[in-house]
Amino acid sequence: MKNSYTELLNRVDKNKLPRHVAIIMDGNGRWASFHGLLRSAGHTAGVKTLKKILTTAVNLKLEALTVYAFSTENWKRPHAEVDFLMHLFSEYIEREKMEMHANNVRIKFIGRLNEFSPGIQAQMKDAVELMKNNSGVMFNIAANYGGQDEIIRATQSLAKKVAEGKISANEIDKKIFENELDTEGQPPVDLLIRTSGDLRISNFLLWQSAYAELWFTKTAWPEFTPEEFIDALVDFGNRDRKFGGLNS
Ligand code: IPE
Ligand code: IPE
Ligand code: MG
Repeated sequence: MKNSYTELLNRVDKNKLPRHVAIIMDGNGRWASFHGLLRSAGHTAGVKTLKKILTTAVNLKLEALTVYAFSTENWKRPHAEVDFLMHLFSEYIEREKMEMHANNVRIKFIGRLNEFSPGIQAQMKDAVELMKNNSGVMFNIAANYGGQDEIIRATQSLAKKVAEGKISANEIDKKIFENELDTEGQPPVDLLIRTSGDLRISNFLLWQSAYAELWFTKTAWPEFTPEEFIDALVDFGNRDRKFGGLNS
């Protein structure tokens, strides 16, 4: 690692790191338009940012990183853009998986995955299988993901278990419910970052972000840097979290 990069990483107090960081990678389209490019060029540039941020997460030994790649609402976009995103997605997995594996990353795809093409589903499965025994950063890619959809799927699964007599309705508690979510077994989101200026959640990790610290920046995702990521982590370290109590 270069000296300046090591210095950058050292700006963060390792004892005050969030366990789970979630990122709404927004602003690819606006960034592209601003530079006179097609929206697709914005998405391509966004993938480069993702690579740098994942590397930073690896170097910091974050426990979990979840990124919003495609929402259940993003199908509303023009067919050509959706198609481009699907290709980009598939290319990204193939190109990056060996390096992720070498970095001890565990990958997981969260969302309604059965609506992807069989080819992409197979690529996802292969990547998960390749990295299943790794022990480093848990890297969740939210794809065809919606927080409401996830909660509905969890509810359906529990309703089936009740109907089959496997559990009783009264037994359902926070822990049992969380075991049905796509992020089963992972810590809740500590820090939620959204780029590009909009101050909303857009159906991301609704359950998991119940007590997340929120961090917004006007920087568009293609221009988001490890430096700014570190700024967010340092800011997180200075927050006073109370979880409804009187002090942290
Ligand atoms: C985020 O960038 C990436 C996806 C939603 C796939 P956008 O495409 O939403 O970019 P803006 O918000 O239109 O600028
Ligand atoms: C959220 O961004 C989804 C992703 C970043 C993948 P959107 O651009 O879809 O959200 P809205 O439409 O601005 O709320
Ligand atoms: Mg957007």
